[in-house]
Amino acid sequence: MAQRFPALNPTFPVLLHGGDYNPDQWQKFPEVLSEDLRLMTLAGANALSVGIFAWAALEPEEGRFTFDWLDRTMDSLERNGQKVILATPSGAKPNWMAAKYPEIRRVNDQGRRDLQQSRHNHCYTSPVYREKVTIMNSKLAERYAKHPALIMWHVSNEYGGDCHCPLCLAAFREFLKAKYKTVDALNDAYWARFWSHTFTAWEQIEALDSSVHGLKLDWMRFITRQTTDFLDHEARPLRKFTPNIPITINMMGTYYFLNYPAMANHIDIVSWDSYPSWHEWDHDTNVAMSTAFTHDLNRGIKQKPFLLMESTPSAVNWAGVSVPKRPNLHRTASLQAIAHGSDGVLYFQWRKSRGSSEKFHGAVVDHVGHENTRVFREVAKLGGDLSKLSNGPANGVMGMDTPAEVALLFDWEVRWAIDFAQGPRNQDKNYEPTVQQHYRPFWNRGIPVDVLDSTRDISRYKLVIAPMLYMLRPGVADRLKAFVAAGGTLVSTYLTGIVDENDLVHLGGLPGEGLMDLFGIWAEEIDVLPQWMKQSVEAVADNPLDLAGSFAARHYAEVLHLRGATPIATYTKEYYAGTPAVTVHKHGKGRAIYIASRNDDAFTDALIASLIQQHAIRPTLSAPLPPGVSATYRTDAQHDYVFVMNLTTDEKSVPLDAHPYQDALTLAPVSGPLNLASYETRVLIRPSRK
Ligand code: GLA
Ligand code: ZN
Repeated sequence: MAQRFPALNPTFPVLLHGGDYNPDQWQKFPEVLSEDLRLMTLAGANALSVGIFAWAALEPEEGRFTFDWLDRTMDSLERNGQKVILATPSGAKPNWMAAKYPEIRRVNDQGRRDLQQSRHNHCYTSPVYREKVTIMNSKLAERYAKHPALIMWHVSNEYGGDCHCPLCLAAFREFLKAKYKTVDALNDAYWARFWSHTFTAWEQIEALDSSVHGLKLDWMRFITRQTTDFLDHEARPLRKFTPNIPITINMMGTYYFLNYPAMANHIDIVSWDSYPSWHEWDHDTNVAMSTAFTHDLNRGIKQKPFLLMESTPSAVNWAGVSVPKRPNLHRTASLQAIAHGSDGVLYFQWRKSRGSSEKFHGAVVDHVGHENTRVFREVAKLGGDLSKLSNGPANGVMGMDTPAEVALLFDWEVRWAIDFAQGPRNQDKNYEPTVQQHYRPFWNRGIPVDVLDSTRDISRYKLVIAPMLYMLRPGVADRLKAFVAAGGTLVSTYLTGIVDENDLVHLGGLPGEGLMDLFGIWAEEIDVLPQWMKQSVEAVADNPLDLAGSFAARHYAEVLHLRGATPIATYTKEYYAGTPAVTVHKHGKGRAIYIASRNDDAFTDALIASLIQQHAIRPTLSAPLPPGVSATYRTDAQHDYVFVMNLTTDEKSVPLDAHPYQDALTLAPVSGPLNLASYETRVLIRPSRK
């Protein structure tokens, strides 16, 4: 049932617009600081993230604190109509601290301690750093607890990476002790007798033995655990002094080294930094699709609206070629985030710094210093639009739900396990692209999807797609069975249900943990195909999934035996020609579909098209979308906000159905077709469909 969530901070119920603001770099330029205020008003900025890398400005020497500049910043922003997302400054440690306390600097995997440089490189175990963070965060929280500008905590910046110092290794061993109790149990879980890697004392455990996959997995889990522990530590004084101010950390999409869904319960708001590679290829549709996927994944972490914490108003500075966004694209890329569940659009950065590594990174305000730039105008126009979308007839779009009937599973631990495994094919494992391959057919049709970790509750969906679910984390197999038994349709692929959470292979036939019965098959062996070898699969006549034709397959082809399932397609080549390649099995009130080979996009599209039809899954608009146009919507069950986005440089005409539509910005009635210029987005309001 669709609902409306509270605004990110219910005391400030508008879409947030603004971004990283670094007045700490400009204290010797008072005229710039006052210009900033004037320009923020012009840009329609209402929320600035302040103090992210300001430790040296807040505590220039140990124990001497200088909050005066921050007081002035908070006061002047508040007076000028802007709110503050206040950062804790742990993302960059000051030089004096790194020199005095070497233990706060990380040690790399070769045992060498970092020199002080750059950022995002503190040891997350160091008691000294934790103590310094407690002092700093307590002072910030106590000082600004009652400040009317404070609406959110931005804890640290882009947590990431790992540390191999003695303190971290000791903590890792404690983590393992708590998990396994005895070394013998750990040896069992890791299958450590292999190559004589049996451990006889906890002290022998290092993090680096990549032949022991269970150990590698636990090291990755530990990095997430220890980072989360550091986050909890940072959050403690904030929760104490400001219990009503929500806490976020800015995440990095599908960043490999942190299992974000495992951190969900430690933060109030999910936010992320989105830097799609627009224009790096000759068209942007793929970039848009994969950005939509990552937005949906971020919404899925807490299954509620999130926040686009960073994006660039023009170009980044770190790509091989950092191409500025073409006219109109900024608006479309920003509204795309709102469309997929963000309750704001924030930037890195408000103003270009004058020196150091980010001086050429895109910003709202360029070095020229005034508002007469293309980028500023586009930002200001968007600011006006966001304000209208905050105050529409339906109480604005903030907090509106995304009515997905489909869940797609994307799981960090599964990805790690697939990548760490040696064989059967070490090239092109492509977990993330494969999940996205299954996302694209929905995106092309304007069908909302929730992207979820495999351990989440899936009972409310009609359709669950679980590509390459190689590892079955605890409880997952049972949830899949219950989902199908209750009437759901499950789609899985090759490499499903092979190992348990320690990467031990299930004995007695695959897929394991009872999934042979769920899918009604036994996967006897995996054929892996080199680049030059192609397989193909051909639909069986009159199959229950209405699949027709033949499709190319590559990389993986499992050889199946039927144990109750009905074949949908069969292989055409090799020693297993004629055997089942796609199957469906009735289980309870639902069905479980198994795709045994890596088939081309045409296959995935055809299969998903047929499932959409059979399950009457509703697209955002009833008529098919022209290629390169995306549509999705948010709803509170009374009204829908419908976003129609042209991700191409061509004009597109989009048919509308008979609903009474109205333009969300002008409130004028709209009837189809919608004619969209290059990169144009329209936002429409309609009464919710029953
Ligand atoms: C990250 C960081 C920012 C900035 C941007 C540049 O997202 O959080 O501080 O460096 O990248 O794109
Ligand atoms: Zn460390």
